[in-house]
Amino acid sequence: MDHSFWLDRWQKSDIGFHQPSAHDFLERHWPALGVPKGSEVLVPLCGKSKDMVWLADHGHAVIGTELAQSAIDQFFAERSRTPASVAEGAFTVKRAGPFALWCGDHLTLDPAVTRRIGGVFDRAALVAMPRTMQQSYAEKLSALTPSGVPVLLVSLDYDPSEMDGPPFPISPDRIETLFGHDFRITLLEKRDGLNASQNLKNRGLSSLQEMAWKLVRR
Ligand SMILES: C[S@@+](CC[C@H](N)C(=O)[O-])C[C@H]1O[C@@H](n2cnc3c(N)ncnc32)[C@H](O)[C@@H]1O
Repeated sequence: MDHSFWLDRWQKSDIGFHQPSAHDFLERHWPALGVPKGSEVLVPLCGKSKDMVWLADHGHAVIGTELAQSAIDQFFAERSRTPASVAEGAFTVKRAGPFALWCGDHLTLDPAVTRRIGGVFDRAALVAMPRTMQQSYAEKLSALTPSGVPVLLVSLDYDPSEMDGPPFPISPDRIETLFGHDFRITLLEKRDGLNASQNLKNRGLSSLQEMAWKLVRR
């Protein structure tokens, strides 16, 4: 997926992936991860997700990464916040309150930025990456996550002959291949996700599994 694909989608407001509220896996599984209150949390490929608001409401400072400046601007405008803006290398960082949203290519983020994080939440980030980019995404997640820190990752799996991604299907074996070397992996929940995804049903899916994973950096 090249950058123009996503910038184009934001420009056209073609953002069917955006959810009106925080993901229920986040609400259900985050508390058991034991991420210290007050710690920073990384939200890769953050869009303008309400997950970031939920994390802030639960005492975290949020570091988001996002290609589309308009997504970041909408996020702050929708909360009536006026962020301060600074250039940090190839990124533009907008900060207001508990939010620091880094506009640029997540795959180039310097691990120094996340050296104090206490957790990571990935919803629709790994699955936004085509198969050829998933290994790079996994390596970057390893580099950005300090030892002992947990990641809550939401994945989707479906028959790839039924639909072209994004979102791309990720099997449990694929999770093991991508993350097994650097993370301890626990499957927290697996459910049928089709009923909640009318959009993906309309695109041809007859079955969809949604999974919540806990990955702890070794
Ligand atoms: C499927 S959306 C998910 C957004 C958000 N996580 C959510 O749940 O609403 C993927 C997002 O990643 C952004 N994106 C794609 N590739 C990126 C990259 N290399 N670096 C930073 N952001 C990227 C896109 O602009 C898009 O907003």
